[in-house]
Amino acid sequence: MNESNTGISAAKTIGDIVAADFRAAKVFEKHGIDFCCGGKIALAALCAEKKLDLAAITSELEALQGEPADQNQKYSSWQLPFLIDYITNTHHAYLHENMGQIAAYTDKIAGIHGAHHPEVIQIAAIFDKINIDLAAHMKEEDELFFPAVKRADAARIAGITPDADDQDTIRVCIFKFYPEHEEIGEAVHSIRHLSKDYLIPPDVCNTFMVTYRKLEEFEDDLHKHVHLENNILFPKAAEL
Ligand SMILES: [Fe+2]
Ligand SMILES: [Fe+2]
Repeated sequence: MNESNTGISAAKTIGDIVAADFRAAKVFEKHGIDFCCGGKIALAALCAEKKLDLAAITSELEALQGEPADQNQKYSSWQLPFLIDYITNTHHAYLHENMGQIAAYTDKIAGIHGAHHPEVIQIAAIFDKINIDLAAHMKEEDELFFPAVKRADAARIAGITPDADDQDTIRVCIFKFYPEHEEIGEAVHSIRHLSKDYLIPPDVCNTFMVTYRKLEEFEDDLHKHVHLENNILFPKAAEL
């Protein structure tokens, strides 16, 4: 869906607004609006539900349009294989490199600081589950979904009907991935809540500090990752 960028329509969904211009994510974050998993609701409906100032948010979004966009905001104009490679090389690579280390750190601080800060025991358990779930989820994306989307996209470009098995894979995967993203997103939100927005207590060691910084970085990366898949990749793949 390539809508014009002129004027912010309150009827557009959060996801569509961020897909059209990734800088909108900054505005949504500022107002506590979930643009990744909760992105399917229209801006006006969300503001009414959360009692947010629609006019103020709309004018902040419109102000962005006067600012130059950089290359990073053109995700929605990228060809599908390029977008998939970007997700793989940026977000999946980040997770492969960091998940194990973060899990080891959360386990370590649970052992050291769990007695005085019992929330870190819960955080370690939640992160261990995220680690397992996300690894299985990414494996399915890497080995099944992404190759099927690339093949179907190549068929579309060649003017051929995509293979029926690939179309099935795409349909089944998207149906499964949305709720998986939501579940992982909720788990990450509960870590943020338990850690009081990653507030580092005064009586803890450097590993604790590094762990909270890494968890915050992980959440930030995950939001961008899930946004690219939920709001840009999946809708385009569904059209194949
Ligand atoms: Fe992914
Ligand atoms: Fe995903």
